[in-house]
Amino acid sequence: MNPTIQNQLSHRTIREFTDEPVTSAQLATLLDVANRTATSNGMQQYSLLRITDPDMRRQMAQVSTQEYLTRCPELFVFIVDVYRNARIAEELGHTPESRADMDRFIQGFTDAALAAQNMTVAAESMGLGAVYFGSILNDPRRMVKILGLPQLTFPVVGLGIGHPNQEPQLKPRMPVELKVFENGYRVFDSYLDEMKAYDEEMQTYYDLRDANRRVDSFTKQVVTKLLNVIESRTTILQVVREQGFILKAEE
Ligand SMILES: Cc1cc2nc3c(=O)[nH]c(=O)nc-3n(C[C@H](O)[C@H](O)[C@H](O)COP(=O)(O)O)c2cc1C
Repeated sequence: MNPTIQNQLSHRTIREFTDEPVTSAQLATLLDVANRTATSNGMQQYSLLRITDPDMRRQMAQVSTQEYLTRCPELFVFIVDVYRNARIAEELGHTPESRADMDRFIQGFTDAALAAQNMTVAAESMGLGAVYFGSILNDPRRMVKILGLPQLTFPVVGLGIGHPNQEPQLKPRMPVELKVFENGYRVFDSYLDEMKAYDEEMQTYYDLRDANRRVDSFTKQVVTKLLNVIESRTTILQVVREQGFILKAEE
């Protein structure tokens, strides 16, 4: 097995880091890797913000309710950014509605997520650890404000990186056969039956955030998450619209 795949198959989220900083050479490499990632149409419709300001981090942690966000040696936020290309078009005398449409938004969202994952793989290959923060969207309107984002931009995900100060277990994944289909989607007769072995395996996993307790079975986690909706997260599409994107949900 080559070292890249070895690293990818050893992936686990790291949420606690030592004080050892990420060097400027490592940082430059990580940014180069993000920048080298494939992008939709080559349009590079994402940007990333490096957050070093403690006060911004504190406010972000209030939104995410994950205090460990403040302690990440490096913290980035990947954002949809169609503002830059809209400005280019405008300076060339064009302001078509398409600059802010959902196609562009989804392209930018995909670009941002891919760049973040590419950076994560690179970080892990250097012996660094990484944690995503989808929780920055717990209050999207407030996050836009904290980050000072202009129109035609939108936060996608945060990413913390540093030297690991913990050794979590590998978190079990469901068998490949349950999510890889050939030539069409496969519907199973009973999902509870299919998940039985995975449910058991999941209960051998300890989440280090809750060290003395094994996690629930996967099927239980699904229901718990569905029943615990964070009300302010349901404003996501409204805030996307407030950021100047044209949803055009109606035919
Ligand atoms: C888009 C995305 C958002 C995530 N958001 C958070 C988060 O807000 N806080 C956190 O601690 N982990 C977050 N995670 C990490 C997941 O909880 C983690 O990847 C998952 O439980 C599997 O565990 P593993 O990465 O250790 O295998 C996120 C992961 C992804 C892909």
